[in-house]
Amino acid sequence: MGEGPKVTAKAHPNLALVKYWGKLDDELNIPASSSISVNLSGATTTTTVVFVTGAEADSVMIDGQAASPKAFARVAKHLDRVRQLAGTTARARVESWNDFPASAGIASSASAFAALSLAASRAAGLSLAERELSILARKGSGSACRSIPDGFVEFVAGGADKFQPTTTTIKGEVETCLKDDTAYARQLFPPEHWDMRITTLIIDQRPKEVSSSEGHQATRTSPFYEAWLAALPPTLETVRRALADKDFRTLGMAVERQAIAMHAVAMTSSLADRDWLSGIYYWAPGTVSLIQAVQDWRRQSLEVYLTIDAGPNVHLLCEAKDQAELERELGCLLLALGGRYLVSRPAAGARIVGEE
Ligand code: DP6
Repeated sequence: MGEGPKVTAKAHPNLALVKYWGKLDDELNIPASSSISVNLSGATTTTTVVFVTGAEADSVMIDGQAASPKAFARVAKHLDRVRQLAGTTARARVESWNDFPASAGIASSASAFAALSLAASRAAGLSLAERELSILARKGSGSACRSIPDGFVEFVAGGADKFQPTTTTIKGEVETCLKDDTAYARQLFPPEHWDMRITTLIIDQRPKEVSSSEGHQATRTSPFYEAWLAALPPTLETVRRALADKDFRTLGMAVERQAIAMHAVAMTSSLADRDWLSGIYYWAPGTVSLIQAVQDWRRQSLEVYLTIDAGPNVHLLCEAKDQAELERELGCLLLALGGRYLVSRPAAGARIVGEE
């Protein structure tokens, strides 16, 4: 058995300021609309990949344990994409560590597939440009493409017209292929553009009942889905402009309203295989307490805004000058709620940190 280079990459999760919620293509992770995010310095995934010629199967360790069958299948499928790009059949040994709880509303799949895409493509001898790497990461998990570039990032949906399936008949078989390379991530601003702080409150660490992929699929069942999609282009424009102008109030309110709208879509979506669910509730009681607290703090002139991904945890955004006061306020509240938190700044994208 021969081993190729052993490559280690790091990536941070990212926080969506404008959410990706709803897809045009579930298999390729083509989003129904563009989204905008910021990479989070406070959490990191570190992944090492080595391809071993002659090995019978891939092996995947996550946080020191063999991956669950579901996680293994998702990683092996991603490695197949890398093998296809590199023209190799060698199996891989993958070891990945997260310094934060998985499935807790911090998008662990984003940093996981960003770090895996970079480490695996390099270990397989590829040297992908940032855009190509983001397209590869996107196929693992849509939001993962946003953890490839540095800082504030846009996941460009591309034109919906470009994703029309083209059908070709080869030897009597119908083959469907989608042109999907216009859905990728690009930097809007570098991390140092704006010294803001993102405080992630870990209210509940249990894995969530409904995965984000299932949530995306269910969006089409919400009576509010069309309204959600229609509101996205102006929201994207507001957020892009507020970032450019460093207009925190406009940014914060647009981000918070859009997050609540995403949850309104989730709460009014249904899942065909879980008919006991009237809707998808990612929130826990502590989530609602925090929404109320944030509104109170703003009334008292503390400029803090929140956003919530597909989980109960709450991310608070403020400018660096307000972080100390925010943490004072939080101290009392967290004693009552029993949670803990981590603080991030805007961070770099995926990086190679070791190559042997
Ligand atoms: C609520 O990227 O996790 O965090 O593409 O199916 O892997 P898949 O979904 P995923 O969806 C993220 C949903 C979100 C919003 C966001 O990050 O934009």
